Amino acid sequence: MTAIAVYPGSFDPVTNGHLDIIERSAKVFDKVVVAVLHNRNKVPLFSVEERVAMLKESTAYISNTEVDSFNGLLIDYIREKNARTIVRGLRAVSDFEYEMQAASINRKLDPDIETFFMMTNNQYSYLSSSIVKEVAKYEANVQDLVPASVQKALRQKYSHLTDEK
Ligand code: PNS
Repeated sequence: MTAIAVYPGSFDPVTNGHLDIIERSAKVFDKVVVAVLHNRNKVPLFSVEERVAMLKESTAYISNTEVDSFNGLLIDYIREKNARTIVRGLRAVSDFEYEMQAASINRKLDPDIETFFMMTNNQYSYLSSSIVKEVAKYEANVQDLVPASVQKALRQKYSHLTDEK
């Protein structure tokens, strides 16, 4: 049986913290599907297509990963992909409350699907897509925080702010 895991998220944009989780979970599972949520609640900086493209480029060196996007309930998507595991990264205690709620509701919806938590590498414990966007907006160097393609995309997104100065 092939052990397929789904790593879902907003990935707006993917950071080195996400990549750390993808790399490490790809060593544990036969296949890891990185799934970008079409999130209707948050207004994203990058479109789903842009987020998928950046993820594809930055995970190309990990052969057992696939990048996709999904709509609706995560549990339905997991079943559709014939997966049985959800991968989530935990950076700090502050992540725990939301993640416990999400894992509990997902277990209630389908007890056969398990959530697998990985502690993010300590060097990325402060890192989030929001923090990256916040500092990139002010032209700070995000070289060590995100893959090169994301750094370039952020520069392009925020170039109009620099032009306005
Ligand atoms: O990167 P994020 O924004 O923390 O990811 C959150 C995500 C995508 C895992 C979560 O919002 C999700 O699974 N949404 C799909 C809708 C759903 O199934 N909700 C119930 C479980 S929270």
